[in-house]
Amino acid sequence: MKILLIGSGGREHALAWKLKQSPLCDDLFIAPGNAGTALCGTNLSIGVSDFERLGAACMEHGIEMVLVGPEEPLVNGIYDYFKSKPGLDKIKLIGPSKEASQLEGSKAFAKSFMKKHGIPTAAYAEFSADTYMEGVNYIKAHALPIVLKADGLAAGKGVLICQHHLEAMSEFDLMLHRAKFGEAGKRVVIEEFLKGIELSMFVLTDGDHYILLPEAKDYKRVGAGDTGLNTGGMGAVSPLPFVDDAFLEKVKKQVIEPTIAGLKQDRLEYKGFIFLGLMNDNGDPKVIEYNCRLGDPETEVVIPRIKSDLVEILMATSEKRLHEISLDIDDRSAATVVAVSGGYPGDYKKGKEISGLEETSFDDTIVFLAGTKREGSKVLTNGGRVLAVTSFGSNITEAAEQSNYMMEQLFFEDMYFRPDIGYEFKAVEN
Ligand code: AMP
Ligand code: GLY
Repeated sequence: MKILLIGSGGREHALAWKLKQSPLCDDLFIAPGNAGTALCGTNLSIGVSDFERLGAACMEHGIEMVLVGPEEPLVNGIYDYFKSKPGLDKIKLIGPSKEASQLEGSKAFAKSFMKKHGIPTAAYAEFSADTYMEGVNYIKAHALPIVLKADGLAAGKGVLICQHHLEAMSEFDLMLHRAKFGEAGKRVVIEEFLKGIELSMFVLTDGDHYILLPEAKDYKRVGAGDTGLNTGGMGAVSPLPFVDDAFLEKVKKQVIEPTIAGLKQDRLEYKGFIFLGLMNDNGDPKVIEYNCRLGDPETEVVIPRIKSDLVEILMATSEKRLHEISLDIDDRSAATVVAVSGGYPGDYKKGKEISGLEETSFDDTIVFLAGTKREGSKVLTNGGRVLAVTSFGSNITEAAEQSNYMMEQLFFEDMYFRPDIGYEFKAVEN
């Protein structure tokens, strides 16, 4: 099987690393890829939403399967583009249709989908410039804190948790009257604040059947102890000690099964990953958000824990045979620690040489590269999140310590990582 993987983050290096291990993978291309994916296959310098050139590259290289990593091309309709072009329509494209990708692309769409199909989520209302005054009144009467969400994709920045009514009203005004999040903020979802412990769960569906992948927890804040600004993710761990069979059963019955039945009922074509951002409120799951892809950096712990052949699983997805698949999971814990360029998630510099990559290697540790590029024999930083070091251990604390140790062998100017990934599990594990 000749495969094209789309994307360029640490997630895509982890996926490329896994795809390459399959005896079913004859050739792997990555567009545009990074210095890490280049170790697993051939990088093609094509943007993730340049469908024409992606399609032409598929024809040129005889690609039989396309796996889409990030949300942008999905929300822009890559699935529909491929299905509409003779020649490309036969390719097994793993990812939802444009309409189904609205589960991530529009918060208002996702909320109304959940409401219609009885899926537990925060109570909400949706407003636009036309209903501005109703929105203001809704905020005034709302319990604190109040959660405001820009409807569209806003690179993880479109969610505001407001502790005061005045703050919520002023942010609401900025979104609807001052285009704070551009087009994405022209519609605003106002919702109830959910309590509990947040976690990420991943489902792969073929539209009829599904398999559940290992769960993970992502560390979104830039600073130790979950302080500072939100980022794309500074680390992740899997599995989670508080996810027991009773909780999993509730997630399946109350969230996953109604989601898949709802997709089918609403005729939303979906062959791909569903990322459930969940709140565990005393053992009861509520959906914070859907994403139409895998998480980054969650993938860097979820994928290494899967022992089964990923290409076989993706083929079964495309052929609606997922009920034939049972996953073989590594029962060890995995932790990934992300190294970022100083300044991230604000401004940061690029082009710094990364050293230590070749000299050091440990059993049970994998260095995934994210925002990086190769220049001659050097690997240079090329983004905010630069490396994701994943280790296995007998528990989360041991895995995270091993990744921290490995991180100390690596260097680039202004490198920063959170030294406390998995911190809250230390007490329960010791
Ligand atoms: P999202 O972009 O929907 O993932 O939201 C970003 C983050 O905001 C989530 O990961 C949560 O930590 C937080 N969040 C979003 N919605 C809520 C909510 N209703 N209650 C509490 N926290 C929330
Ligand atoms: N780590 C969160 C995300 O991928 O959206």
